[in-house]
Amino acid sequence: SIFLQKILQFKKGYGISMGSKKGCFIVFEGIDGSGKSTQISLLQEHIQEHSINCMTTMEPSNGPIGTLLRQFLSGRIKGEETTLTALFAADRLDHLNNPVNGICKLLDDGIAVLSDRYVFSNYAYQSVSVPLEWIMKCNEMANEIVRPDCHIFIDVSPETAMERVTRGRHQTDIYETKERLTDVRDRYLDLIHRMEDVENIIIVDGNRSPQEISDDIWAKVCHYFV
Ligand code: ADP
Ligand code: TYD
Repeated sequence: SIFLQKILQFKKGYGISMGSKKGCFIVFEGIDGSGKSTQISLLQEHIQEHSINCMTTMEPSNGPIGTLLRQFLSGRIKGEETTLTALFAADRLDHLNNPVNGICKLLDDGIAVLSDRYVFSNYAYQSVSVPLEWIMKCNEMANEIVRPDCHIFIDVSPETAMERVTRGRHQTDIYETKERLTDVRDRYLDLIHRMEDVENIIIVDGNRSPQEISDDIWAKVCHYFV
């Protein structure tokens, strides 16, 4: 498709954080329960041990659109997938551009930023029911503002993920079904395969202990920091 070709024209590592003193931007991707938030905390500790200022953040964000999205995700309010797609993209722009604590501001201040989810989440989750090209169009502006230095995809089976997200919980989010997560994981793997020439993507096996995974991730990203 023309749009995908356009996205693929971007050079690897294109983004505001390249070749300057700006902070490094790393995003974590994976299906629900893959261990992203666990690994983000562990990576933040590693980075801070090297006296580097590092903040963690997530999407949906804690801003007004992210807060609205969480109500859709919990099922409290209902919405069409196209509406959700546009809201995820709008939340991302707010997350980037917010003048107080937006990602751009933090990176400009030389702070390393680790985000739990970014554009690939929109592509993988919403393309189950919305055309991928349109989702990419909705994210064109975000891609022009900041491309991550690196995407870390934590891979676990949908069975493992479901076991983890349902453990000790009474309610699950709208996408937390084995069928949906199977579809989303397949889409992630397909996207990674198609984008590996234009984006820095690291795939890690999430079926190990948190410490083993964290050591593996650090070995693969420490060159950004030391
Ligand atoms: P995510 O942010 O991707 O949803 P979390 O880090 O919140 O994932 O992990 C989901 C659940 O699985 C939590 O209960 C967490 O303690 C547990 N968990 C995280 N990593 C592992 C791991 N490597 N092995 C076993 N359980 C894990
Ligand atoms: P999150 O709170 O990270 O869930 P988890 O910690 O279980 O992985 O994300 C909430 C949900 O939002 C998750 O099911 C994925 C979904 N999501 C999208 O569908 N599209 C998006 O663009 C983003 C950022 C998240």
